[in-house]
Amino acid sequence: MFSRYKKEPAKPVQPSANGVPKAAPAKATPAATAPPPAATPAAEAAPKPSMRKPAQRGPAKAAPADKERKRKERLGEIKVELHRELLDNLNLSALESASEQDLRNEISAIASEVLQERAIVLNRDERALINQELYDEVTGLGPLEPLLKDDTISDILINGPQQIFIERDGKLQLSDTTFKDEKHLLRIIDKIVSAVGRRVDESNPYVDARLQDGSRFNAMVPPIAVDGSLVSIRKFKKDKLGIDDLVNFGAFSEEMAAYLQAAVSTRLNVIVSGGTGSGKTTTLNALSSFIDNSERILTIEDTAELQLQQVHVGRMESRPPNVEGKGAVSPRDCLKNALRMRPDRIIVGETRGDEVIDMLQAMNTGHDGSMTTIHANNPRDGIARLENMIAMAGIEMPIKAVRSQIASAVNLIVQASRLQDGSRRMTSITEITGMEGDVISMQEIFRFQRTGLGPENKIMGHFTATGVRSHFSERFRLWGYDLPASVYEPTAG
Ligand SMILES: Nc1ncnc2c1ncn2[C@@H]1O[C@H](COP(=O)(O)OP(=O)(O)OP(=O)(O)O)[C@@H](O)[C@H]1O
Ligand SMILES: [Mg+2]
Repeated sequence: MFSRYKKEPAKPVQPSANGVPKAAPAKATPAATAPPPAATPAAEAAPKPSMRKPAQRGPAKAAPADKERKRKERLGEIKVELHRELLDNLNLSALESASEQDLRNEISAIASEVLQERAIVLNRDERALINQELYDEVTGLGPLEPLLKDDTISDILINGPQQIFIERDGKLQLSDTTFKDEKHLLRIIDKIVSAVGRRVDESNPYVDARLQDGSRFNAMVPPIAVDGSLVSIRKFKKDKLGIDDLVNFGAFSEEMAAYLQAAVSTRLNVIVSGGTGSGKTTTLNALSSFIDNSERILTIEDTAELQLQQVHVGRMESRPPNVEGKGAVSPRDCLKNALRMRPDRIIVGETRGDEVIDMLQAMNTGHDGSMTTIHANNPRDGIARLENMIAMAGIEMPIKAVRSQIASAVNLIVQASRLQDGSRRMTSITEITGMEGDVISMQEIFRFQRTGLGPENKIMGHFTATGVRSHFSERFRLWGYDLPASVYEPTAG
C-alpha cells in the first residue's frame, strides 16, 4: 500500500498484545500525605504599611483548560507511538524525493492503519492535527514548526523541553507547546545544526546557526545548560519594519526621521547602540533605506539579517570554525577584504571584536556613511565600549589618540532601547562633535522624555528635540537637506 516510501520488505505493523493502546502508566500515589500547613502565628501584629509597591509578577503560566490539557496529553502519547511506528516504516531515503502531497498521504495512511489496529478513535480535527505534527516531525523541526510559521511571533526562547517562551508584540509569554523530553529537544537541535555542518554535544556545548528561513539560532546543551537545553531563535522577518512603520509604532518621531534621513544621505558615520533585542538591527535596516540607489554597499554580518532595498549590495557572512577548529572567517577578515572591493559604504551588522580597528579606519578613510551597531546602554557607554574593544584588540595607543580616532570616525550615535513594557524606542540621537582636552564631546539632539507610568505599566512619554541645533546643519544645507528650524525645537508632549 505505501510502496514508494515504505521500507522494503514492508514490515507488518505489530499490534499491541491486547489490541488496545497502552494505558498511561498509573500515577504513583504519594506515600506520605501532604505536609501540614505552616503554622500561623498566634497573634498577628498589626500590618505595617509598606512603602514598597507589591512585586509585579506577570502571569508566566499558560493555563489551558483541564480538559484541553488532558486531550493534549493523550494526543501527545498517541503521537509518540505513531512517530516511532512511522520511523520504522518509512523509507527515509525515498522521502527526500517525495512530493509534499505524497508524503502527507503516506503519513496519513500509515497513521490511519496504526490507529485502526489499535482501535483508537480520533475526531477529524485531532487526526488533522496529529497528521500535521507527524509531518512536521518527519520533515521539519517538530513542535517548533507552528511557532516558526506564525508570523506574529518574533522570538522563541526555550528553557529545557517543557518551557517554550514566545515573544509577540514585544511581550514575552509562555506558550503551551512543549517537547516530549530532553532527548526530543536534542534531536531537533541536532537536526538544525547538522544541516549547517556543525555539531553540538558535551564537548562542544554551544552553537550558532541559521535556520533555512533565515532565522537566527543559538543553542546551548547540557551539562553547561543545567536544566535542559537552552535555545534562542530570532525569527527572520520577511518584511522588515521600515521608517514609516517605526514612526507609526512610536519608535521615533517624524522630526527624528527627517533628521536621520539628512544624516544618512549626507554620509555621516552612524553607530546604532542598544541592548540585546532592543531593535538595533531593525533600526540599521531602516536607516539603510535612506542610502542612494547608485551607491555600492557591502554588508558584513554573523548571520545575514539585513535586507537592503538598493540594487548594488554585496552581502557577506562571517563563519565560525568547523568541528576541527578550521575554516573560520572572522568579521575582521571580511572587513579587510571588503575594503579591497571598492565599496561606497560598509555596513557591519555588529561590531564586537577586533574588527573595530578596521571599521574606524574605514570610517576615517573615505568610506564615510558607514554604519554598524554595538551593545551599549547609552551613547556614552557606547564610546567606552569602542575604547574597550580597541584596547582588547591589542592596540597600544595612548587613550587620547584612541579617543580622537573615535571622535573623528563616528559622527552619530543612535540609541535603541527596549523599555520595560516591551516597547522599543529610539531613546536618544547624539552627535559627536570633537574633542575637548582628553574627552570626546557629544551633544544630544533628540531624546525620549519619559513622563510616568500609565495603565498596565505602559511607559508614558514623548519624543522631543533638546533645542540644540545640529553640529552638521551646515553640511545638511550644502547637501540639499535644509531642515526647518522647527525640527530642533523641543516639544512639550
Ligand atoms: N520599534 C519596534 N517596534 C516593534 N517591534 C520591533 C521594533 N524594533 C524591533 N522590533 C522587533 O524586535 C525584535 C528584535 O529586533 P532586532 O533584531 O532589531 O534587535 P537587535 O537589537 O538587533 O537584537 P540582537 O541584540 O539580538 O541582535 C525583532 O523581532 C523586531 O522585529
Ligand atoms: Mg541584531
